[in-house]
Amino acid sequence: MKAIEIRNKYLNYFKKHGHTIIPSAPLIPENDPSVLFTTAGMQPLVPYLLGQKHPAGTRLTDYQKCVRTNDIDEVGDNRHLTYFEMLGNWSLGDYFKEESIAMSYEFLTKELGIPNEKLSVTCFAGDEDCAKDTVAYECWKKAGIPDERIYFYGKEDNWWIAGEEGPCGPDTEMFYDTGKPACSENCQPSCDCGKYVEIWNNVFMEFYKDSKGNYTKLKQQNVDTGLGLERMTMLLEGKETPYEIELFAPVMEKLEKLQKVDNIQSRRIVAEHLRSSMMIINDGGRPSNVDRGYILRRLLRRMTRHLNKLEINLDLLPEIIDVSIDSLKELYPELEKNKATIISVIEEEKNKFMRTLKNGEKEFEKVVNKAKMQGKDTLDTQVVFNLYETYGFPPEMTVELAKEQGIKVDMENFDKLFKEHQDKSRLGSDQKFKGGLASTGEKETKYHTATHLLNAALKVVLGEHVHQKGSNITEERLRFDFSHNSKLTEEEKKKVEDLVNEYIKMDIPVEKLEMKKDEALKKGAEAMFLDKYGDVVTVYKIGDVSIELCGGPHVNRTSELGHFKIKKEEASSAGVRRIKAILE
Ligand code: ALA
Repeated sequence: MKAIEIRNKYLNYFKKHGHTIIPSAPLIPENDPSVLFTTAGMQPLVPYLLGQKHPAGTRLTDYQKCVRTNDIDEVGDNRHLTYFEMLGNWSLGDYFKEESIAMSYEFLTKELGIPNEKLSVTCFAGDEDCAKDTVAYECWKKAGIPDERIYFYGKEDNWWIAGEEGPCGPDTEMFYDTGKPACSENCQPSCDCGKYVEIWNNVFMEFYKDSKGNYTKLKQQNVDTGLGLERMTMLLEGKETPYEIELFAPVMEKLEKLQKVDNIQSRRIVAEHLRSSMMIINDGGRPSNVDRGYILRRLLRRMTRHLNKLEINLDLLPEIIDVSIDSLKELYPELEKNKATIISVIEEEKNKFMRTLKNGEKEFEKVVNKAKMQGKDTLDTQVVFNLYETYGFPPEMTVELAKEQGIKVDMENFDKLFKEHQDKSRLGSDQKFKGGLASTGEKETKYHTATHLLNAALKVVLGEHVHQKGSNITEERLRFDFSHNSKLTEEEKKKVEDLVNEYIKMDIPVEKLEMKKDEALKKGAEAMFLDKYGDVVTVYKIGDVSIELCGGPHVNRTSELGHFKIKKEEASSAGVRRIKAILE
C-alpha cells in the first residue's frame, strides 16, 4: 500500500469517526523559538491539550510534517530519518482509552489489513506518579490481543512527553512483528534487534509535568496519537528499509545511476537529507550559522559531501532534486510549486560549501598526514579547532572525515576549547559593549531602540525567518544586518518604514526586565547568540511589538525617537541583507 493511500485511509477513517481533518502545521513552529522544528503532531496543539477550546472541535486528525534532529549522524543506516510524516488523531477531553484503542485496533486490522497475530502492544507498568494502566490492558484484551502479546514497561518506554515540561501521560504502543527470528529467549517489543517495529503510539495525556518535575492532573483527559507514515508504508510493502518505498526508491536509483563510486550509506544520506532540506526550505527555513539555519546547513553540507563521495557531478543536483520532488509531490504538492526557490537555496549553499571545503579539506589532509607520520591515532584537538576557526570547517565533518581515515578526535577537549573561545569572544564583546556604553550618547540610545523596532517590523513584513545577524550604531545612523534571501522591494521597504513610524507614534513604554534565559526564550525573546548570555538575562520589552535579549541602553518611550527613515538596503553576504537607517 502506497504512502498516500495509507494517509488517505487514515484521515478518512478518523473523519468517519467524528474527527475534523486539520492542516499540517509548518515545520518551523510559529512564535516558539524554544524548539527548532515541529517534532510531533501534538506540538501545535499544546494550548488545546491544556484546555483551550479548539475551533474545529474536540476530535481532530491530521498528517503532520516533522523533523527530529537528534539523530542526524545516524542517518545512512537502515532506519533513521530526520524528516518524517506523523499521522495523528486527538481527543481534546472527548473519548479516552477505550474508544482510542478500539479505533486503533480496527484501523490496523480492518483498514490496513494487518493480521492480529502480527501485533504486540505495550502498556504503562505504573509507578509513584501514576497507577498501572490496567484499563488499556483490558481494552486490548477486549480487542482480541492475547495476554502473551501484552507487555508492561515503566516510564522509559511507556510514558510520553515532548521535552522536559508540558502535557504528558502513560502511553500504549503497538508493534508489528516482522517475522524475523527472535534474537534471544527474552526477545520482546522493547528489544532493538529489529524483530518488532513500533508502529503507533497512543498517549493518554492527562498530566502536566512542571519545570520542577512535579506531575499534576490536567483539566481534561486527552488522547494524542502518532503513527509514522514511512515506517508503516515500509512494513505494508514488505520492505526492509524506508529507502525502498516509493518516496525514496526513484532518487536512490537515480543516484546509483549517476554514481562513480558505490556506497549505499552515502546514497541514503543524500536521499534523506535532500528530502528533509527541501521540506524545511519549503516552510521558510534558510541556511545560517545559528539554530534552525545551522541544522539546515548541516543537512545540506552533509548531503553535498556524500554526493562528492559518490563522485556525482554536483552540477546534476537540480536533476536529482527533480526526481525527488517527483516522487514526493503527491504527498506534498507545495514542493513542485516552490521548486525554483528550493533549487536556488540548495545551489547557493552548495556553492558556498564547496569553497569552504576546498580550503578546509586541503588543510585537513595536511593535518591527517602529519598525525599519521607521527604515528598518532588521535587528532590534536587544537588542530581540529583551528580548522574550524580559520577555515570554517564544520567540526562534525572533521570527526566524520577523520573516522573514515581511521583517526579519532577528542571531542571532549574540543568542547572545552570551543567554550573558551566563546568566553573569550564574550569578554571581547562585553568590553566592546562597555566601551560603547561609555560613549553612548542620546543619539546612539535612540538608534538602539530603533534597531529593535526595525527588527520587529521586518519580521511582520517579511516573515518570521528574519533574525538579527549584526548591528552597528553611530551617532549618525543605525546599520542592521538580518537573514533574508532577496532584495527588498520598494513596497516592502515602505511598509517597514511606515510600521516603525507607527510604533514610534504609539508612544509605547520600553521596559527593562530581568529573567531566566529559558523564560525569556519561552516568551519569544529574540536573541542573536544564545550561548553568549548567562542564566539570568536582561530583556527589553516594547509593548507587544518587540522582546529582545539585550544589554541596552534604550529610551523610555518610543515617541522619543522622532521620524525613522531607511537610507539604503543592500546585500551584506549570502542570505543576509543590510539596512542603513536614520532618525530625523
Ligand atoms: N506525541 C506522540 C509521539 O510523538 C504520539 O509519539
